[in-house]
Amino acid sequence: MSNIGSYDDRLKDFSWSIAENELGYKPGDTINIGWYCTDRICQLGKADKTALIWEGRDEATTRKYTFNDLRILSNTFGSFLSSLGINNGDRVCLFMDKAPELYIGFLGILKIGAVAQPLFSAFGDESLFVRLENAGTKAVITSRKHAPKVQKILDKLPNLEHIIVVDDEGKKALKPKEIAFSLDQATPVENFEVYPTTAESHSLLHYTSGTTGQPKGVKHVHSSLISQYLTTKWVLDLQEDDIYWCTADPGWVTGTSYGIIGPWSLGVTQCVKDSGFSAEVWYRFIEKHKISMWYSAPTAIRSLMKAGNEVVKQFDLTSLRHLASVGEPLNAEAVVWSERIIGKPFHDTYWQTETGSMMITNFPGMKIRPGSMGKAFPGLTPALLDPDTFEPITEISKPGLIAFRYDWPARMRTYWNNQQTFDKKFKNGWYITGDRSTIDKDGYFWFIGRDDDVINTGGHLISPFEVESALLEHEAVAESAVVSKPDEINMEVVKAFVTLKPGFDPSQELELEIMNFIRKKLSPFAMPQEIEYMDLLPKTRSGKIMRRVLHAKEWGEEIGDISTLEND
Ligand code: PRX
Repeated sequence: MSNIGSYDDRLKDFSWSIAENELGYKPGDTINIGWYCTDRICQLGKADKTALIWEGRDEATTRKYTFNDLRILSNTFGSFLSSLGINNGDRVCLFMDKAPELYIGFLGILKIGAVAQPLFSAFGDESLFVRLENAGTKAVITSRKHAPKVQKILDKLPNLEHIIVVDDEGKKALKPKEIAFSLDQATPVENFEVYPTTAESHSLLHYTSGTTGQPKGVKHVHSSLISQYLTTKWVLDLQEDDIYWCTADPGWVTGTSYGIIGPWSLGVTQCVKDSGFSAEVWYRFIEKHKISMWYSAPTAIRSLMKAGNEVVKQFDLTSLRHLASVGEPLNAEAVVWSERIIGKPFHDTYWQTETGSMMITNFPGMKIRPGSMGKAFPGLTPALLDPDTFEPITEISKPGLIAFRYDWPARMRTYWNNQQTFDKKFKNGWYITGDRSTIDKDGYFWFIGRDDDVINTGGHLISPFEVESALLEHEAVAESAVVSKPDEINMEVVKAFVTLKPGFDPSQELELEIMNFIRKKLSPFAMPQEIEYMDLLPKTRSGKIMRRVLHAKEWGEEIGDISTLEND
């Protein structure tokens, strides 16, 4: 029997108080995610239960932590941060690979009422800089490997007071503002007064990219726990004896909402693998740890498909009980493949950094329609809106903008220092996601695409504006336009069109140089997979580059109205 039981019954009797009661939380009480994920689980008698099984890149290196270990170590991390003068409300960035310190540091930050700002460790110095500057970050928790990127931009970050290096252990000479902190060597803090955060206290700042402007900091609060707890329980169906694996990095919202908060607030054991994708390594990881619930992403699933069915047969994957996916369109073939080859279908789930928790999902026990994102989570009021009037569409299967009434606990509270952009997300009292979909007669949502120019490559949202701006910083580039192009595995990848400055000639060598420039500055996934040299970029008469024309060319689509095109 699944945790949700009958979806239709839950629709009828739904109230968020179901989660509040199970969490023993009453509106108005203090609520601290760090406490709920550790101390409370110990109080429920699960202190000795394994919370985290961590495996390094080298498969022989594993570490296990009980909930009591997590409790004490997050106390220890939290009190160290306090001793540095970090207070409630201060932003503390986590910038490291998936080491245990990332997870424990996250909980420690929350326990002192500070704000966790996780950033993907593959970010280059420019990506890192804009996000640290925007957040006015006070401290960065990092590792020896990634600290140099912080050092490179330190002079431009007056608010940054501490760079905490977790794996230095005093062996290397510390650079300016660096301080070594080793969880293994620190005196364990058994008793700790968790900061009394309440429902609206700021917990997390996740950065996400839009079509224009700099990345936006999505502000979340401690009561997001209520949504995250219940969606984890009902959609991921986590049960007492499950061994759970979320493949997402905590640099992204999936890695925090469902890679930390959801599973640990339920007291479930989870596994973390500190490595990139490899079919053999992933299957072996499932077999070795007897993973029963697996939450992953379409690009990973397509990569597994590409690795072939013979590889699957070499491993015993019978421990798997339930599979789910998020982040980008999950094509019907991937669902059918997993059911046929792995024996279980992936259940698609749809949500956003801004929503903080799952919105549209395929529930356990519900009949999956491969290619559909499923149905709305109980308690939500979804609609498809007409893009012109922003009124709900009542016609079945007519495309519209996915929107929700703004009333679930995990919703973002604003964009950091950017209320104006936040306000623009609303029309007629609806929160507009920026995605387009249809709904069939039975209430299943079918994703169509995004309503903006943001590129979703392998589940990573890339702002064309950010890449275009970075390209202009290369000495050879005069103008740039960035669009997506189709890709078998990642669905879409970044493609750049550039014109060159006088004195520079197109060559393959220059293309590679520019690609590498972007990889280092922004990140590997923002790096254009192709650069096309142009003599002129298509522009409107007012001088605006028409990405639409380039996009249509890449996707073999109709170009549409180009009456305002200047250089046709
Ligand atoms: O365009 C949708 C796509 O990813 C966007 C949200 O990305 P992000 O904020 O990075 O959060 C990703 C993880 C929650 C959405 O606006 N997206 C997410 N899930 C799906 C999806 N597109 C199609 N199908 C999905 N299941």
